Amino acid sequence: MSMDTFRLDDKVVLVTGSTKGIGYGIALALARAGADVVINSRNQEDCDRVASEVRNLGRRSLGIAADLTKLDAINKMVEAALQYFGRIDVLINNAGTAITRKAEDITEQDWDRVLNIDLKAVFFCSQAVGRFMIQRRKGKIINMASVLGLVGERQVLPYCVAKGGVIQLTRALALEWARYNIQVNALCPGYVITPMNEADLSQEKIYNHIVGKIPVRRLAKVEDLVGGAIFLASDASNYMTGQVLVIDGGWTAE
Ligand SMILES: NC(=O)c1ccc[n+]([C@@H]2O[C@H](COP(=O)([O-])OP(=O)(O)OC[C@H]3O[C@@H](n4cnc5c(N)ncnc54)[C@H](OP(=O)(O)O)[C@@H]3O)[C@@H](O)[C@H]2O)c1
Repeated sequence: MSMDTFRLDDKVVLVTGSTKGIGYGIALALARAGADVVINSRNQEDCDRVASEVRNLGRRSLGIAADLTKLDAINKMVEAALQYFGRIDVLINNAGTAITRKAEDITEQDWDRVLNIDLKAVFFCSQAVGRFMIQRRKGKIINMASVLGLVGERQVLPYCVAKGGVIQLTRALALEWARYNIQVNALCPGYVITPMNEADLSQEKIYNHIVGKIPVRRLAKVEDLVGGAIFLASDASNYMTGQVLVIDGGWTAE
């Protein structure tokens, strides 16, 4: 096997929620590995800015603003990406959010806000892109789960529920679409400081609580995750489906 199997040359990858944080870092890393990248978030200006960063790396890119909690926006995003690139080889369901709140205080609105983007959108983006992958008999879907899909944590209950659901979604979808040569896997990162959690992690008590759970005694950096994302997007993972790649500094080994 040559290292070329890890290259993503000319693969078209759609990364949802790729204007900030982990998705942004992964989008640029995929471009450096040779991929053309579709950038998404709810903000067109941010999408255009990141798409131009990808183009500066010598790859093709298109920024498409879409609120993925809305099914018609998902369908329009996928149509626009297909119209521009002709295909989507890899979908990375990365867009997500979290709310820190005690279980007894969680409202229906909190629940819907987290579940709609962290779980429901993962399925309907997969379905919208998957219908075209089925026709081509080829594709890869990478779902961004979390260590909190594997272990519980206090005061982030809807997030834990959503990420546990993403792992089961990954397994169930992998079984259905294996026959179409579509691999569906999940990536489970530990904590990375991003706009999603910087307010919480800037509090010393919370920071120390989290780092105390990690055997390597540090949070993850986006660079710690990109190798896993490239592997799952590349031909090197062609025989892997329905699995969970955990990159958590040993957190869940205990
Ligand atoms: N950070 C961590 O410690 C950590 C750990 C494990 C797993 N994860 C997972 O990794 C993924 C990325 O997290 P992150 O920390 O990088 O988050 P982030 O910094 O908050 O970035 C989230 C991205 O998703 C976009 N987004 C949010 N809601 C959206 C919607 N409804 N439709 C379209 N785009 C939307 C955001 O842009 P706009 O807000 O402008 O739309 C942004 O580009 C999430 O699935 C998260 O659960 C994160």
